Amino acid sequence: MAAFLEISDDCRGHELGLFCVPKHYEEDLDSVIIPNGLIKDRTERLARDIVRDMGGHHIVALCVLKGGYKFFADLMDYIKTLNQNSDRSVPMTVDFIRLKSYSNDQSTNCVKVIGGDELSALSGKDIVETGRTMETLLTLLNECRPKMVKVVSLLVKRTPRSSGYRPDYIGFEVPDKFLVGYALDYNEYFRDLSHICILSDSAKEKYKV
Ligand code: IMP
Ligand code: MG
Repeated sequence: MAAFLEISDDCRGHELGLFCVPKHYEEDLDSVIIPNGLIKDRTERLARDIVRDMGGHHIVALCVLKGGYKFFADLMDYIKTLNQNSDRSVPMTVDFIRLKSYSNDQSTNCVKVIGGDELSALSGKDIVETGRTMETLLTLLNECRPKMVKVVSLLVKRTPRSSGYRPDYIGFEVPDKFLVGYALDYNEYFRDLSHICILSDSAKEKYKV
């Protein structure tokens, strides 16, 4: 089973005032649950594990937009750094796909797929909650008969709604709370926030569609 850094259910996060957050979101967040520096440190290690496991295989790195874009960019940077500083390196190309399954703070049954022309190999994802989005994408990817598909997700939520699906690489396992920041959104807001934060109940009402 993939190793992960566990953020426990009783973790209330860090006080907002201890970190820099945009003024326009100050009232909307309960706390900082994963500071940007910790995200980067964990991502650096995921990059090392991936390069170790991939050997010299060529990877098509597929970014799942929009929520995965920050994680994907940082993960690629760390893989690039390893590639340019060691005797072994992993050739990479990148592709992007856009998925949409969420409305307000609820996962919907309908997963929409937009874009992506060369679907294969390593898929980089923001968060797995029920696992439904990822299972839909995997069915689609497997139709292209790739040699191998590995999924890297920054976050996996501990929730009774989970289908049981687990990615191949996991950054953090997080409590069943709605998280925003580092490209994770609530109705498109909060992507412009560096840290992963717990969204307040009042913000769920304020930004509801
Ligand atoms: P699943 O299909 O239930 O696994 O949901 C995964 C998708 O739902 C993710 O790609 C996100 O877009 C969205 N999502 C689930 N939980 C959260 C959250 O806590 N914050 C932001 N988006 C979330
Ligand atoms: Mg979203």
